[in-house]
Amino acid sequence: MRALILGAGGQVGRALTSALPDATALGRDAFDIASPAELDWPAYDVVVNAGAFTDVDGAETPEGRAAAWRANAAGPAALADIARRHGLTLVHLSTEYVFDGALQRPYREDDVVAPLSAYGASKAAGDLAVRGVERHYLLRPTWVVGEGRNFVRTMLGLAARGIAPTVVDDQIGRPTFASDLAAAIVHLVTTAAPFGSYHVTGGGEPASWAEVARAVYALAGRGDLTITGTSTAAYFADRPQAARRPLNSVLDTEKAADAGVQLPHWRDRLAEHVRSCDL
Ligand SMILES: NC(=O)c1ccc[n+]([C@@H]2O[C@H](COP(=O)([O-])OP(=O)(O)OC[C@H]3O[C@@H](n4cnc5c(N)ncnc54)[C@H](OP(=O)(O)O)[C@@H]3O)[C@@H](O)[C@H]2O)c1
Repeated sequence: MRALILGAGGQVGRALTSALPDATALGRDAFDIASPAELDWPAYDVVVNAGAFTDVDGAETPEGRAAAWRANAAGPAALADIARRHGLTLVHLSTEYVFDGALQRPYREDDVVAPLSAYGASKAAGDLAVRGVERHYLLRPTWVVGEGRNFVRTMLGLAARGIAPTVVDDQIGRPTFASDLAAAIVHLVTTAAPFGSYHVTGGGEPASWAEVARAVYALAGRGDLTITGTSTAAYFADRPQAARRPLNSVLDTEKAADAGVQLPHWRDRLAEHVRSCDL
């Protein structure tokens, strides 16, 4: 497989670069997805787009909203056009933020999108563009943890400083490890799984952010510190400009499992991840 990875500097981009050492990997400085440079497209079979504007709260500002639509909607639309013209397979990443989180069951791939935030809306627009490509895989992870800025890293930093934070306990989901997401992409592409959308998250019981934080603290040896739970409404009460978040972030991963995608339990993967971090 001749693969091109775009947005290679992010959490998922880095994991993909490790999983596909023979691929061409271009970070944002080398290739801007929203303003694509000419490349030798026939040299590739698969383009994997891991680039995105992921600052959820930043996307609520006028400048951030424009940047989010540029990277998350115009970018995938430009890549979709290139994929169609050159007969390439396009792999793209979406998010549960395209849903409003109001359903009382895990979200399936064909559930109606109803984003609450500018970030979610821009990602939903990108999804529509990618779905217009015949040869596409659209993967939706949640709560991504890899090399880079993420919730687990923030909690490890606080734990190391002996700080016991207040964490929301009414947003429910499952962490997804970037290396598992990269492995899922490689699996779908190399097994020629049916094209389309797949929800790919960590396996195991869903948990709240506060429960994930407690698991991180226990693994870091700071289970003695008490993490206090709070509601999302109370947490953001003094930040009305923050993005609205879906409370139910649980995605139904049955379709991916049926396609043979491994979905390791998030608690097992979290333990391995924390062990591999410099504490
Ligand atoms: N993080 C999560 O919890 C989460 C959850 C669900 C879905 N996702 C989705 O998963 C995908 C990967 O997320 P991630 O966690 O790896 O994000 P990330 O660590 O923020 O990486 C995104 C990368 O995209 C780059 N980028 C931004 N604009 C670009 C452009 N116009 N052209 C090329 N590259 C650009 C960024 O570069 P700069 O750093 O220089 O801006 C960054 O290297 C995204 O599609 C995201 O929406 C993420």
